[in-house]
Amino acid sequence: MSISDTPSVSSGFSLNAADYDRAVRYNIEGAKRLAEALPGPAYGSVLDVGCGTGFSTMAFVNRFGTTEITGVDAAEGMLEQFRAKLAEQPQLTVQLEVADVLDMPVPNDHFDAVISSMAFHWFPKKHEAAASMARPLKPGGHMAILCSGRGAEDEFRRILTEIYPPVPQWIGAFDLVQRDIDEMEGYLEGAGLEILDIWMERRIRRVPVDEYLTRMRVVASHLNKGYSEDELADLDAKITAATHKAAGPRGFEYTFTKLFAVARKPA
Ligand SMILES: C[S@@+](CC[C@H](N)C(=O)[O-])C[C@H]1O[C@@H](n2cnc3c(N)ncnc32)[C@H](O)[C@@H]1O
Repeated sequence: MSISDTPSVSSGFSLNAADYDRAVRYNIEGAKRLAEALPGPAYGSVLDVGCGTGFSTMAFVNRFGTTEITGVDAAEGMLEQFRAKLAEQPQLTVQLEVADVLDMPVPNDHFDAVISSMAFHWFPKKHEAAASMARPLKPGGHMAILCSGRGAEDEFRRILTEIYPPVPQWIGAFDLVQRDIDEMEGYLEGAGLEILDIWMERRIRRVPVDEYLTRMRVVASHLNKGYSEDELADLDAKITAATHKAAGPRGFEYTFTKLFAVARKPA
């Protein structure tokens, strides 16, 4: 299977949407820090690409008092979770669209900010995705992206390489999704944007094994496509045993690298 298969990425997220917010507490912190990184002072309208359940959008609303938000995501299930939260935000004008990043039903040169938190790494065609996200941005507006960086979770990759029979789609996913600073610069400059700030953050986390594996099941279940139920149960048992074995008394220790970028569309 290919990770560039967007329908299967989005169906994995849809399937696990109800568990998403509980499983990804680090993404919630990351979205807040992405919002902190934008120069401001205010953004009236924001487009969130791969908005998921909406907590990245809400981080921007809370920081900048944004009133017009558009969220685009390929997974209807994730947007349903977002919709449920919006009942508590009657002051917002909201449009949620099920669409691929390359085919967004949004106007040109319209939004004060275009953001994307922990979704860009799943977009198969990254140059095209950056150009597609730059199109609806107003001249002078800002783009902010947070995604998985090169080297993230190599400890888990090592565990997977020792699993038999091999799980090439899981192992291959690391190289397909992770990017470095120079690659992100290429995407953004290729889309005609000026880079204001770009950095990689490397953290060492220790979490209980069950918490780690729950997050993996929620964010990467589309990599299981093609397995029978029995095969999946067997694979899950092997990965769980190997992760417990690799864990220390303080839990499973892994490295997480996040790539942040803030850019501007020339006025
Ligand atoms: C890890 S979630 C991130 C959600 C949210 N932005 C956050 O900060 O938690 C990634 C999201 O990207 C969406 N996605 C993946 N590929 C996509 C594509 N090609 N076009 C649009 N959305 C996509 C998934 O459906 C999923 O909701």
